[in-house]
Amino acid sequence: MAVQRTYTMIKPDGVRNGHIGEIVNRFERAGLTIEQMRLEMVTPEQAKANYAEHEGKPFYEGLIAYVTSGPVVKMVVSGEGAVYKVRSLMGATNPADAAPGTIRGDFGLTMDENVIHGSDSPESAEREIGVFFG
Ligand code: RTP
Ligand code: MG
Repeated sequence: MAVQRTYTMIKPDGVRNGHIGEIVNRFERAGLTIEQMRLEMVTPEQAKANYAEHEGKPFYEGLIAYVTSGPVVKMVVSGEGAVYKVRSLMGATNPADAAPGTIRGDFGLTMDENVIHGSDSPESAEREIGVFFG
């Protein structure tokens, strides 16, 4: 598989509960490279652009409110198949369904407080890197 880059973000619960180091460590152990990393808030504009595909769904307003509620860690990560590798390290969206050993399986709390976001395709990754890093 080709070298890819992806956008990934440790959500407010992941930062608040002290999982930054562990998550970065898992990425590096998986052979991924951290290209860019920033601890800061998500602006409402960034949140809406990132989650535009979910606009109008019942959980949309809560998701935007949640992801803008506290500092996050925004990252660009690269490596062989980085988009899919990060998704696989993350685990299923709902922590209750996420396998043990995945980030969400080990640290996820609820459907909103599921620790981490990762782009779901190379196309989404390029769009999201533009949203968060310009
Ligand atoms: P993410 O975009 O955050 O990496 O998560 P994902 O691809 O695994 O899941 P996605 O379908 O893109 O959903 C984005 C976020 O919305 C919340 N969600 N709630 N209540 C619900 O049915 C529901 N579905 C999705 C989750 O917080 C999910 O991470
Ligand atoms: Mg998604």
